[in-house]
Amino acid sequence: MKKEKPEIRLGVNIDHVATLRNARGASYPEPLRMASLLEELGVDGITVHLREDRRHIIDSDVFDLRKKISLPINLEMAATKEMQSIALRLNPRAVCLVPERREERTTEGGLDVLSEEKKLRIFIKPLLKENIRVSIFVSASLEQIKAAFRIGAQVIELNTGRFCDLFLENNFEESSCELIRLKEAAHHANQLGLEVHGGHGLSYDTVKSIAAIPEIRELNIGHFLVSEAIFDGIPKVISRMQSEIYSARKLQLGL
Ligand code: PXP
Repeated sequence: MKKEKPEIRLGVNIDHVATLRNARGASYPEPLRMASLLEELGVDGITVHLREDRRHIIDSDVFDLRKKISLPINLEMAATKEMQSIALRLNPRAVCLVPERREERTTEGGLDVLSEEKKLRIFIKPLLKENIRVSIFVSASLEQIKAAFRIGAQVIELNTGRFCDLFLENNFEESSCELIRLKEAAHHANQLGLEVHGGHGLSYDTVKSIAAIPEIRELNIGHFLVSEAIFDGIPKVISRMQSEIYSARKLQLGL
């Protein structure tokens, strides 16, 4: 299928290029080199998660990317003073606030905006003032979405991780229920005027249902793409993922 671009962006999370580099304590593979290649391949943005423990992406990576790559950068981070100060120096296109626990392997669940509403409202103010878009990673909960809206975020990223896990376990009954929750959440968020993104755990199989949700404007995908690239190489993998996303969206639009 011809890759005419519908209104949906692919952001690629390059954390695991850094994971591989750091496993050897070497200088390669370089996240920056990956980002340049992704730019050539027509992806729409680069996502990096600067974790408190710097287990993959490190500070010099994000500043190098900002200086040398023209793609928009989506900086995933915890809502801490340290990260706020880095984000203000970096001035990325967007910041995506995620929950972070040291012992987790990857982000688990969405941010509990409801219980930290006041703190988060104050936290994001300086970011918004610098024209950094603020996105909140949330599960498919209407209450959390409303809270994200109340604090002044412009974007929510729906956590697709649970849907993907259930789908991969062949638990299609539960994964269909989660998909319905994600669709409803996307619809409500869009009605509130929030831009809706999605991400976590997406693969060629699971992306089809998520890309077909009409309100979703951006998908952020990392682990699967880097894993598949070991076998097929990044150009082939990105091309296939773009095709899956665009054809699911076109089908949904009846094009
Ligand atoms: N979106 C958010 C908020 C994340 O925390 C992550 C993982 O860092 C991703 C998207 C990408 O998830 P995956 O690597 O499973 O594709």
